[in-house]
Amino acid sequence: NIHLIEEPPQEHDALIATLPLEPVYERPFSIVHPLRLYKDVWIAEKKLRGTLVMQHCFKSRPTDIFLTSFPKSGTTWLKAMTFSTLTRTNCSLDKHPLLTHNPHQCVPFMEVEFSTGRSKIIEVIPSPRVMSTHLPYFLLPDSIKESSCRIVYIWRDPKDVLVSAWYFTQKILGGPDKMVTFDQFFEFFCQGLTSFGPIWNHILGYWEESKRRPEKILFLKYENVLQEPVKYAKQLAHFIGCPYSETEENQHVVEQIVELCSFNTLKDFDVNKDGGRVMPSTDVRISKAYFFRKGEAGDWKSHMTREMAERLDTLIKEKFEGSGLQI
Ligand code: A3P
Repeated sequence: NIHLIEEPPQEHDALIATLPLEPVYERPFSIVHPLRLYKDVWIAEKKLRGTLVMQHCFKSRPTDIFLTSFPKSGTTWLKAMTFSTLTRTNCSLDKHPLLTHNPHQCVPFMEVEFSTGRSKIIEVIPSPRVMSTHLPYFLLPDSIKESSCRIVYIWRDPKDVLVSAWYFTQKILGGPDKMVTFDQFFEFFCQGLTSFGPIWNHILGYWEESKRRPEKILFLKYENVLQEPVKYAKQLAHFIGCPYSETEENQHVVEQIVELCSFNTLKDFDVNKDGGRVMPSTDVRISKAYFFRKGEAGDWKSHMTREMAERLDTLIKEKFEGSGLQI
């Protein structure tokens, strides 16, 4: 039974209370839980609590697969793809769990489960487990970094991440008039003041580690995946240890999985249209439909002035300098 609810952990609250708090504005900026600055990362208080518990007690298995990302970078696609790739021999496409479950119900967020007293649901997932986190690489539990489990990271043009985060926050808070303006949101983003920010350190942390240990971390870019989904679906399958066989290739199984997990297919499933909560145990109301908006590259052009785009691009270029990484 996956509804085993323990008492939400509170042993780290004294430490959390000492950490810098996001500035207070007339209208809210963060989603319900205020952000705290922990080791130069802005994390919502509640998720930070879950993170600290997880760092202490999480034991990874060598077969585990962790899906990692900065929020609004393509996590939903990555969850759908990894889950359906891994389960393809025992889930027929006409009765697939993704027809009736949102991808976030198929792959749990670790920091959320650990913060809501539901860490046991992680323990009962049969191996190979697929789990996800928005934590930066350096905050992952040592057990993940040191075991032979694998990590897949997806990143995206920060300008589109910003726009996507702006709409997502708005939906949760109940409209644009319930939160800071887009211009203010942009300023915060450029200061790194956003959930799990700053984004540049997040991307660079996984990038550097993927260069050092390519067998451990697969580093994907959302825009590339959108352009050549079949190519990256094969790369993902290979990386997680279940490459497509010749027979499967001849039967176009990879194309079928790509189609199932495409934005247009998933967003039209009734389950992803309904207003039901994705994570019923959390006190933040996040409905399944919130994860499907446009699913395109370059929507920032309709939201930012040229000056804003240039400013963010320049900032990211400066941060990425010398890393070999380009937007
Ligand atoms: P937009 O708001 O730009 O449309 P995350 O999954 O990390 O929360 O990111 C959400 C973004 O991914 C949203 O971007 C959403 O529309 C897009 N998205 C969701 N499912 C997708 C899919 N199957 N393929 C491509 N993009 C998807």
